[in-house]
Amino acid sequence: MNQTTPPDDFASVPRPPKPRVLLTGAAGVVGSALRAGLQGAFDLILTDLRTPEGLEAHETFRAADLQNPAQVRGAMQGAQAVIHLGGIADEHSYERIRAVNIDGTQHVLQAAHELGVRRVAFASSIHTVGYYPRSQQIGPEVPVRPDTFYGVSKVAGEALGRLYWERYGLEFVAVRICSFQPGPQDARHLSTWLSPRDAVQLFRCAVTAPGVGYLTVAGISGNTRRWMTPEGWDTLGYLPQDDAEAYAAEVQDRRGDPASRSETYQGGVFTEAEYTGLAGKQG
Ligand SMILES: NC(=O)c1ccc[n+]([C@@H]2O[C@H](COP(=O)([O-])OP(=O)(O)OC[C@H]3O[C@@H](n4cnc5c(N)ncnc54)[C@H](O)[C@@H]3O)[C@@H](O)[C@H]2O)c1
Repeated sequence: MNQTTPPDDFASVPRPPKPRVLLTGAAGVVGSALRAGLQGAFDLILTDLRTPEGLEAHETFRAADLQNPAQVRGAMQGAQAVIHLGGIADEHSYERIRAVNIDGTQHVLQAAHELGVRRVAFASSIHTVGYYPRSQQIGPEVPVRPDTFYGVSKVAGEALGRLYWERYGLEFVAVRICSFQPGPQDARHLSTWLSPRDAVQLFRCAVTAPGVGYLTVAGISGNTRRWMTPEGWDTLGYLPQDDAEAYAAEVQDRRGDPASRSETYQGGVFTEAEYTGLAGKQG
Protein backbone atom coordinates (compact mmCIF):
# COMPACT_ATOMS: atom_id res chain seq x y z
CA MET A 1 0.00 0.00 0.00
CA ASN A 2 1.21 3.44 -0.92
CA GLN A 3 1.73 5.31 2.36
CA THR A 4 1.25 9.06 2.05
CA THR A 5 1.47 10.00 5.73
CA PRO A 6 4.60 9.48 7.81
CA PRO A 7 4.46 6.28 9.90
CA ASP A 8 4.83 8.25 13.12
CA ASP A 9 3.33 11.58 13.96
CA PHE A 10 6.28 12.90 15.96
CA ALA A 11 4.46 16.06 16.97
CA SER A 12 1.95 14.02 18.95
CA VAL A 13 4.54 11.87 20.74
CA PRO A 14 4.91 13.27 24.27
CA ARG A 15 8.52 14.25 24.94
CA PRO A 16 10.10 13.27 28.25
CA PRO A 17 10.32 16.29 30.54
CA LYS A 18 13.71 18.02 30.58
CA PRO A 19 15.70 17.62 33.80
CA ARG A 20 15.13 20.53 36.18
CA VAL A 21 18.50 22.04 37.02
CA LEU A 22 19.35 24.83 39.46
CA LEU A 23 22.06 27.18 38.13
CA THR A 24 23.76 29.18 40.91
CA GLY A 25 25.76 32.24 39.91
CA ALA A 26 23.36 32.58 36.97
CA ALA A 27 24.02 36.34 36.59
CA GLY A 28 27.79 35.87 36.28
CA VAL A 29 30.05 35.49 33.27
CA VAL A 30 30.04 31.68 33.07
CA GLY A 31 26.43 31.53 34.31
CA SER A 32 25.22 33.76 31.48
CA ALA A 33 26.92 31.57 28.87
CA LEU A 34 25.52 28.37 30.39
CA ARG A 35 22.07 29.91 30.75
CA ALA A 36 22.02 30.65 27.02
CA GLY A 37 23.61 27.34 26.00
CA LEU A 38 21.69 24.95 28.24
CA GLN A 39 18.16 26.26 27.71
CA GLY A 40 17.38 23.48 25.24
CA ALA A 41 18.76 20.67 27.37
CA PHE A 42 17.40 21.58 30.79
CA ASP A 43 14.54 23.29 32.49
CA LEU A 44 16.72 25.84 34.30
CA ILE A 45 16.04 27.52 37.62
CA LEU A 46 18.32 30.54 37.90
CA THR A 47 19.64 31.83 41.19
CA ASP A 48 22.07 34.57 42.20
CA LEU A 49 22.28 37.54 44.55
CA ARG A 50 21.51 39.84 41.64
CA THR A 51 18.91 39.45 38.90
CA PRO A 52 20.39 38.11 35.65
CA GLU A 53 20.26 40.52 32.71
CA GLY A 54 17.52 40.13 30.11
CA LEU A 55 15.42 37.79 32.22
CA GLU A 56 12.60 36.45 30.05
CA ALA A 57 9.06 35.67 31.12
CA HIS A 58 9.50 31.91 30.71
CA GLU A 59 12.65 31.90 32.89
CA THR A 60 12.46 31.12 36.59
CA PHE A 61 14.67 33.28 38.80
CA ARG A 62 14.88 32.83 42.56
CA ALA A 63 17.13 35.32 44.35
CA ALA A 64 19.21 33.71 47.11
CA ASP A 65 22.30 34.51 49.12
CA LEU A 66 24.59 31.47 49.29
CA GLN A 67 25.40 32.48 52.86
CA ASN A 68 21.79 31.83 53.86
CA PRO A 69 20.93 28.08 54.02
CA ALA A 70 17.15 28.67 54.01
CA GLN A 71 17.35 30.83 50.89
CA VAL A 72 19.56 28.25 49.14
CA ARG A 73 17.11 25.50 50.03
CA GLY A 74 14.18 27.61 48.82
CA ALA A 75 15.88 28.23 45.47
CA MET A 76 16.57 24.50 45.03
CA GLN A 77 12.98 23.29 45.45
CA GLY A 78 12.04 20.96 42.59
CA ALA A 79 15.57 20.65 41.15
CA GLN A 80 16.98 17.25 40.15
CA ALA A 81 20.54 18.51 39.69
CA VAL A 82 22.57 21.63 40.50
CA ILE A 83 25.27 23.46 38.57
CA HIS A 84 27.02 25.41 41.31
CA LEU A 85 28.88 28.42 39.90
CA GLY A 86 27.93 31.07 42.46
CA GLY A 87 30.52 32.66 44.68
CA ILE A 88 33.55 34.92 44.70
CA ALA A 89 35.50 34.15 41.54
CA ASP A 90 38.79 35.77 42.57
CA GLU A 91 41.04 36.16 45.57
CA HIS A 92 39.49 38.05 48.51
CA SER A 93 39.93 38.25 52.28
CA TYR A 94 39.93 34.86 53.99
CA GLU A 95 36.72 35.75 55.87
CA ARG A 96 34.76 36.62 52.71
CA ILE A 97 36.06 33.57 50.84
CA ARG A 98 35.16 31.30 53.73
CA ALA A 99 31.66 32.76 54.16
CA VAL A 100 30.62 32.74 50.50
CA ASN A 101 32.65 30.00 48.84
CA ILE A 102 33.19 27.41 51.56
CA ASP A 103 30.08 27.88 53.71
CA GLY A 104 28.03 28.66 50.60
CA THR A 105 29.06 25.39 48.95
CA GLN A 106 28.23 23.47 52.11
CA HIS A 107 24.79 25.09 52.10
CA VAL A 108 24.28 23.99 48.48
CA LEU A 109 25.35 20.40 49.22
CA GLN A 110 23.32 20.13 52.42
CA ALA A 111 20.19 21.42 50.67
CA ALA A 112 20.84 19.05 47.75
CA HIS A 113 21.11 16.12 50.15
CA GLU A 114 17.98 17.08 52.08
CA LEU A 115 15.93 17.66 48.93
CA GLY A 116 17.00 14.41 47.22
CA VAL A 117 18.91 16.09 44.39
CA ARG A 118 20.78 13.50 42.30
CA ARG A 119 23.94 15.36 41.33
CA VAL A 120 25.90 18.59 41.82
CA ALA A 121 28.31 19.86 39.15
CA PHE A 122 30.76 22.25 40.79
CA ALA A 123 32.79 25.08 39.24
CA SER A 124 36.17 24.29 40.73
CA SER A 125 39.34 25.93 39.50
CA ILE A 126 42.90 25.62 38.25
CA HIS A 127 43.77 27.52 41.45
CA THR A 128 43.36 24.27 43.42
CA VAL A 129 46.66 23.27 41.80
CA GLY A 130 48.05 26.68 40.82
CA TYR A 131 51.54 26.09 42.24
CA TYR A 132 52.35 23.22 39.88
CA PRO A 133 55.00 24.33 37.41
CA ARG A 134 53.99 24.73 33.81
CA SER A 135 56.62 22.14 32.88
CA GLN A 136 54.52 19.41 34.55
CA GLN A 137 51.38 17.79 33.10
CA ILE A 138 48.95 17.08 35.93
CA GLY A 139 45.90 14.90 36.31
CA PRO A 140 43.03 15.25 38.78
CA GLU A 141 44.68 12.91 41.31
CA VAL A 142 47.79 14.98 42.10
CA PRO A 143 48.00 16.45 45.62
CA VAL A 144 46.43 19.90 45.71
CA ARG A 145 48.66 22.98 45.61
CA PRO A 146 46.26 25.92 46.02
CA ASP A 147 47.69 29.34 45.21
CA THR A 148 45.26 31.60 47.11
CA PHE A 149 42.50 31.53 49.75
CA TYR A 150 40.23 31.35 46.69
CA GLY A 151 42.05 28.19 45.58
CA VAL A 152 41.72 26.78 49.09
CA SER A 153 37.95 27.38 48.90
CA LYS A 154 37.77 25.31 45.71
CA VAL A 155 39.78 22.52 47.38
CA ALA A 156 37.28 22.69 50.27
CA GLY A 157 34.39 22.57 47.80
CA GLU A 158 35.82 19.42 46.22
CA ALA A 159 36.36 17.87 49.67
CA LEU A 160 32.81 18.72 50.72
CA GLY A 161 31.58 17.14 47.50
CA ARG A 162 33.55 14.00 48.31
CA LEU A 163 32.04 13.88 51.81
CA TYR A 164 28.46 14.20 50.53
CA TRP A 165 29.13 11.49 47.91
CA GLU A 166 30.73 9.03 50.34
CA ARG A 167 28.28 9.67 53.14
CA TYR A 168 25.01 10.23 51.33
CA GLY A 169 25.50 9.09 47.72
CA LEU A 170 25.04 12.62 46.30
CA GLU A 171 26.89 12.52 42.96
CA PHE A 172 29.47 15.25 42.42
CA VAL A 173 31.47 16.40 39.42
CA ALA A 174 34.19 19.01 39.98
CA VAL A 175 35.12 20.88 36.82
CA ARG A 176 38.46 22.62 37.34
CA ILE A 177 37.79 25.57 35.08
CA CYS A 178 41.03 27.16 33.93
CA SER A 179 40.35 30.27 31.79
CA PHE A 180 36.80 30.81 30.57
CA GLN A 181 37.12 33.44 27.83
CA PRO A 182 35.55 34.24 24.45
CA GLY A 183 39.04 33.57 23.03
CA PRO A 184 42.61 33.23 24.36
CA GLN A 185 43.95 36.62 25.48
CA ASP A 186 47.61 35.73 26.16
CA ALA A 187 50.17 32.93 25.87
CA ARG A 188 49.01 31.25 29.11
CA HIS A 189 45.55 30.84 27.67
CA LEU A 190 46.99 28.65 24.91
CA SER A 191 47.15 26.03 27.67
CA THR A 192 44.25 27.05 29.91
CA TRP A 193 41.46 28.29 27.62
CA LEU A 194 37.91 26.98 28.03
CA SER A 195 35.72 28.22 25.19
CA PRO A 196 32.09 29.12 25.86
CA ARG A 197 30.72 26.33 23.66
CA ASP A 198 33.02 23.75 25.26
CA ALA A 199 31.95 24.99 28.71
CA VAL A 200 28.31 24.47 27.76
CA GLN A 201 29.02 20.92 26.56
CA LEU A 202 31.19 20.10 29.57
CA PHE A 203 28.60 21.19 32.13
CA ARG A 204 25.81 19.50 30.17
CA CYS A 205 27.80 16.26 30.28
CA ALA A 206 28.62 16.83 33.97
CA VAL A 207 24.88 16.79 34.69
CA THR A 208 23.72 14.08 32.31
CA ALA A 209 26.51 11.45 32.03
CA PRO A 210 25.27 8.29 33.72
CA GLY A 211 26.78 6.88 36.88
CA VAL A 212 29.77 9.14 37.45
CA GLY A 213 29.71 8.98 41.25
CA TYR A 214 32.48 11.37 42.24
CA LEU A 215 34.71 12.84 39.54
CA THR A 216 37.18 15.69 39.04
CA VAL A 217 38.05 16.82 35.51
CA ALA A 218 40.02 19.57 33.78
CA GLY A 219 37.83 22.46 32.62
CA ILE A 220 39.60 23.31 29.38
CA SER A 221 39.10 23.07 25.63
CA GLY A 222 41.05 20.53 23.59
CA ASN A 223 44.17 22.68 23.76
CA THR A 224 47.30 21.24 22.13
CA ARG A 225 49.46 22.93 24.82
CA ARG A 226 47.33 21.87 27.82
CA TRP A 227 48.97 21.32 31.21
CA MET A 228 46.08 19.24 32.53
CA THR A 229 45.37 15.73 31.31
CA PRO A 230 41.95 14.85 29.85
CA GLU A 231 41.35 12.15 32.47
CA GLY A 232 37.63 11.71 33.14
CA TRP A 233 36.45 13.39 29.93
CA ASP A 234 35.64 9.97 28.46
CA THR A 235 33.51 9.12 31.51
CA LEU A 236 31.53 12.29 30.89
CA GLY A 237 31.45 11.91 27.11
CA TYR A 238 33.01 15.38 26.75
CA LEU A 239 34.52 15.97 23.29
CA PRO A 240 35.90 19.50 23.11
CA GLN A 241 35.32 21.35 19.85
CA ASP A 242 37.92 24.08 20.30
CA ASP A 243 41.72 24.24 20.57
CA ALA A 244 43.45 27.48 21.62
CA GLU A 245 46.22 26.66 19.14
CA ALA A 246 44.14 28.33 16.44
CA TYR A 247 44.98 31.64 18.18
CA ALA A 248 48.69 30.94 18.77
CA ALA A 249 50.07 33.40 16.21
CA GLU A 250 47.93 36.16 17.72
CA VAL A 251 48.73 35.70 21.42
CA GLN A 252 51.88 33.62 21.94
CA ASP A 253 54.09 36.69 22.44
CA ARG A 254 51.78 38.11 25.11
CA ARG A 255 53.70 36.95 28.17
CA GLY A 256 55.47 38.52 31.15
CA ASP A 257 58.92 38.12 32.69
CA PRO A 258 59.86 34.43 32.20
CA ALA A 259 61.55 34.41 35.63
CA SER A 260 58.40 35.56 37.47
CA ARG A 261 56.09 33.26 39.44
CA SER A 262 53.26 34.29 37.11
CA GLU A 263 55.09 32.73 34.17
CA THR A 264 56.51 29.75 36.10
CA TYR A 265 53.37 28.35 37.66
CA GLN A 266 50.08 27.20 36.17
CA GLY A 267 48.06 29.57 38.36
CA GLY A 268 49.56 32.66 36.68
CA VAL A 269 49.26 35.98 38.51
CA PHE A 270 47.39 34.33 41.42
CA THR A 271 50.71 32.75 42.46
CA GLU A 272 52.40 36.11 43.11
CA ALA A 273 52.84 36.61 46.88
CA GLU A 274 51.37 40.13 46.69
CA TYR A 275 48.28 39.13 44.67
CA THR A 276 45.16 40.16 46.62
CA GLY A 277 42.47 40.12 43.91
CA LEU A 278 39.26 41.72 45.14
CA ALA A 279 40.37 42.12 48.77
CA GLY A 280 39.93 45.75 49.79
CA LYS A 281 38.19 46.60 46.50
CA GLN A 282 34.61 45.57 47.22
CA GLY A 283 32.45 44.24 50.06
N1 LIG B 1 35.76 32.60 34.76
C1 LIG B 1 36.76 31.72 34.89
O1 LIG B 1 37.70 31.65 34.07
C2 LIG B 1 36.76 30.75 36.04
C3 LIG B 1 37.89 29.97 36.28
C4 LIG B 1 37.88 29.06 37.32
C5 LIG B 1 36.75 28.92 38.09
N2 LIG B 1 35.68 29.70 37.88
C6 LIG B 1 34.53 29.56 38.76
O2 LIG B 1 33.34 29.54 37.98
C7 LIG B 1 32.29 30.20 38.69
C8 LIG B 1 31.70 31.31 37.84
O3 LIG B 1 32.73 32.22 37.52
P1 LIG B 1 32.41 33.60 36.79
O4 LIG B 1 33.64 33.98 36.04
O5 LIG B 1 31.11 33.50 36.09
O6 LIG B 1 32.28 34.56 38.05
P2 LIG B 1 31.28 35.80 38.24
O7 LIG B 1 31.85 36.63 39.34
O8 LIG B 1 31.01 36.46 36.94
O9 LIG B 1 29.95 35.09 38.74
C9 LIG B 1 29.76 34.64 40.05
C10 LIG B 1 28.33 34.93 40.45
O10 LIG B 1 28.16 34.53 41.81
C11 LIG B 1 27.30 35.48 42.42
N3 LIG B 1 27.49 35.52 43.86
C12 LIG B 1 28.54 36.06 44.54
N4 LIG B 1 28.33 35.99 45.86
C13 LIG B 1 27.11 35.40 46.03
C14 LIG B 1 26.34 35.08 47.16
N5 LIG B 1 26.73 35.36 48.41
N6 LIG B 1 25.15 34.50 46.97
C15 LIG B 1 24.70 34.22 45.71
N7 LIG B 1 25.38 34.51 44.59
C16 LIG B 1 26.58 35.11 44.75
C17 LIG B 1 27.66 36.81 41.79
O11 LIG B 1 26.59 37.75 41.91
C18 LIG B 1 27.97 36.42 40.36
O12 LIG B 1 26.88 36.62 39.49
C19 LIG B 1 32.88 30.69 40.00
O13 LIG B 1 32.62 29.74 41.01
C20 LIG B 1 34.36 30.74 39.71
O14 LIG B 1 35.13 30.59 40.88
C21 LIG B 1 35.65 30.62 36.87
